[in-house]
Amino acid sequence: MATTNLHADQLKAQAAQAALKYVQEGQIVGVGTGSTVNFFIDALATMKNDIAGAVSSSEASTVRLKSHGIEVLELNHVSELPVYIDGADEIDPHLRMVKGGGGALTREKIIAAVAHKFVCIADSSKQVGRLGHFPIPVEVIPMARSYVARQIVQLGGDPVWRQGFTTDNGNLILDVHNFDILEPQQLEQQLNNIVGVVTNGLFAQRGADIALIASPDGIIHLGE
Ligand code: A5P
Repeated sequence: MATTNLHADQLKAQAAQAALKYVQEGQIVGVGTGSTVNFFIDALATMKNDIAGAVSSSEASTVRLKSHGIEVLELNHVSELPVYIDGADEIDPHLRMVKGGGGALTREKIIAAVAHKFVCIADSSKQVGRLGHFPIPVEVIPMARSYVARQIVQLGGDPVWRQGFTTDNGNLILDVHNFDILEPQQLEQQLNNIVGVVTNGLFAQRGADIALIASPDGIIHLGE
């Protein structure tokens, strides 16, 4: 197991390193969340004097960025964001993703909406033919938890409350198992339509523009 993790970490680090070429000199960089992005933040530190700062999708990434001396800017103060770099829990051939395993999905989705280019970095274990084996995280306003769970059951999913976890926005997460996802964009919209849902971890309406997938045979470059 330790060897497997080491190998996965090496691949994540390679994908993270490959993303540096999408960082534009003098510009602000959007930074996601997770173990793959942690490698990206460490790599970004090597060019911190060449960028105007970062916007961050989580408190955890903010702490890591600042620990490297990278300035973290408020998204509300940023009108142009050329690129957003983030990982994924699953990515399909159309570059649609499931995200939010770390619970940062809402801020990730907001920054992805602002960014001109979404670059997904992942090791090849994240590639799937069809989304949905990984449970779909849904961020929920606390008082709506039971109602939202009942509505999700109506949609064919099995929601499980991620107990003991609170998002950076003070909300809860339902991890939804067993969705049969034929139309990811449609399901993303249906979940968003449930009152009390803040957002969900399907990134289909706004997927990635580029994916850098690190495999044992090298980096696979998908998209533009
Ligand atoms: C965080 O909320 C997630 O969206 C991450 O981007 C995703 O879970 C990938 O994380 P890892 O890089 O740790 O696998």
